[in-house]
Amino acid sequence: MISDLSQLTPVEFTLPNGMVISLRPLGAADRDKLAVGFERLSGESRYRRFMTPTPRLTPNELTYFSEIDSRNHFAWGVEVAHEDGWDGAGVARYVRLSGDPGAADTAFTVLDEYQGIGIGQVLLRGLAIAGRVNDLRRFHFDVLADNRPMLRVLEKSGVPMDPVSAGLTHGVLDVDSFVAGLDSWPPARALAELARAARPGLESS
Ligand SMILES: CC(C)(COP(=O)(O)OP(=O)(O)OC[C@H]1O[C@@H](n2cnc3c(N)ncnc32)[C@H](O)[C@@H]1OP(=O)(O)O)[C@@H](O)C(=O)NCCC(=O)NCCS
Repeated sequence: MISDLSQLTPVEFTLPNGMVISLRPLGAADRDKLAVGFERLSGESRYRRFMTPTPRLTPNELTYFSEIDSRNHFAWGVEVAHEDGWDGAGVARYVRLSGDPGAADTAFTVLDEYQGIGIGQVLLRGLAIAGRVNDLRRFHFDVLADNRPMLRVLEKSGVPMDPVSAGLTHGVLDVDSFVAGLDSWPPARALAELARAARPGLESS
């Protein structure tokens, strides 16, 4: 039996443009891929993700981002299929808040060359399903007010955003109702089956 989400097998499906992508739990073995992916990110994407100029990830940051327990800190890695193999395309993660265990902060990154084709929306849905499995009820989003792509992903997911300070917005996703609304989303079934295999008590919780 699968004992935790880090054991999930990859979930493949097809984007509206026909590209095939694969979601799989990220872990310590992905440290070098994270470093390479960060190098491929534009300055604008780095700024939007970290909200400060970030020239590189430090060894400590790479450890923090990759050595995760897949319960309180979980991340999906997404890869895109090409003729010559899979190419790393992005990451979405949540980190449970220590002072509010039903809630988590979230972060999303899709490499520039793969932005705008629906991966961000898939990552949000997949992350919500993982959060639901791990007893999270609320996802928090801090997004720069001019980050149109992320705000669009959240708008399409029904997340209201409020200004919190100059240039910064904040929103909260109700994980339960969002996941419940994914019933007709084809990949949700595969992800939900994996989630059930990982946590047999999910249906009754
Ligand atoms: C934000 C991000 C994760 C979104 O992922 P994505 O794969 O590009 O998102 P999707 O393709 O699912 O959807 C993007 C939506 O924004 C729209 N969009 C893309 N670029 C846009 C732009 N410059 N202005 C307005 N809308 C834009 C797309 O058209 C799409 O909406 P649609 O489905 O109605 O057409 C990704 O762009 C990214 O990694 N950006 C850099 C890091 C970042 O901003 N992280 C989020 C902060 S935690």
